[in-house]
Amino acid sequence: MNLQQIEEAASFISAKLSGAPKVGLILGSGLGMLADEIENPVKIKYETIPGFPVSTVEGHAGQLVSGTLMGVPVIAMQGRFHFYEGYDVQAVTSPVRVMRALGVEKLVVTNAAGGVNADLNPGDLMLITDHINNTGQNPLIGPNESQLGVRFPDMSTAYAKELQQIAQQAAKDMDLDVKQGVYVWNTGPSYETPAEIRMLRTLGGDAVGMSTVPEVIVARHAGMDCLGISCISNMAAGILDQPLSHDEVIETTEKVRESFLTFVKEVLTRMNKL
Ligand code: 6GU
Repeated sequence: MNLQQIEEAASFISAKLSGAPKVGLILGSGLGMLADEIENPVKIKYETIPGFPVSTVEGHAGQLVSGTLMGVPVIAMQGRFHFYEGYDVQAVTSPVRVMRALGVEKLVVTNAAGGVNADLNPGDLMLITDHINNTGQNPLIGPNESQLGVRFPDMSTAYAKELQQIAQQAAKDMDLDVKQGVYVWNTGPSYETPAEIRMLRTLGGDAVGMSTVPEVIVARHAGMDCLGISCISNMAAGILDQPLSHDEVIETTEKVRESFLTFVKEVLTRMNKL
């Protein structure tokens, strides 16, 4: 989406909202039900938004849900666009730019990820401290639109220290064991081989998934502060002596649903006091 399309989509959306959202939420596989807890929700199907990526996957249609959550004006993506679905990285990340145009300053990004660090366990929540882009893709490739951000964005604090501290403190006060680590973005859709997972571990990765990094790159370009939370849905290939399946991913995210929901809501409450 170019600048004009971003503005058009933002005005289309803001005309339906009663106020400007402050926090954006991108909800990963199996974690979309957080959007169902948004109060006074305005729901906007992606396909009705001018310029938005067109979903090609049947039965997978997502929507924006805006309202208040724990008193915070939010806008959530219930369902995201993945690179492995065939969307280019620009399409994957354009909703982030639209959120920014709507006034969103902070982005909470969630995903389901495979554990690469053997100290992690399926069902763990992991705060993302940093990421590794292992794809060679970058959504900022192409002419830079200076109104959107600088040509060479700094990524030294891709995940805001202050937001991580808030989340750590929330976890501590809730007596919730929240891990932390480095998230690696691979394109998928095939999972990695055991040799690839050993490589990613050697490179400093703790968890691996098929999302989040492009959105965070664009969010940083736009000057938004990011918080990343992975739900470790399974161990990556070769860590346990068992094959990987998407069913396991879904099963685990269902199991951690409740703690994930309460955790993110507590973090939001505290973010509102910033
Ligand atoms: Cl093991 N790999 C990738 N790339 N994505 C995942 C995953 C593994 N588990 C959940 N999502």
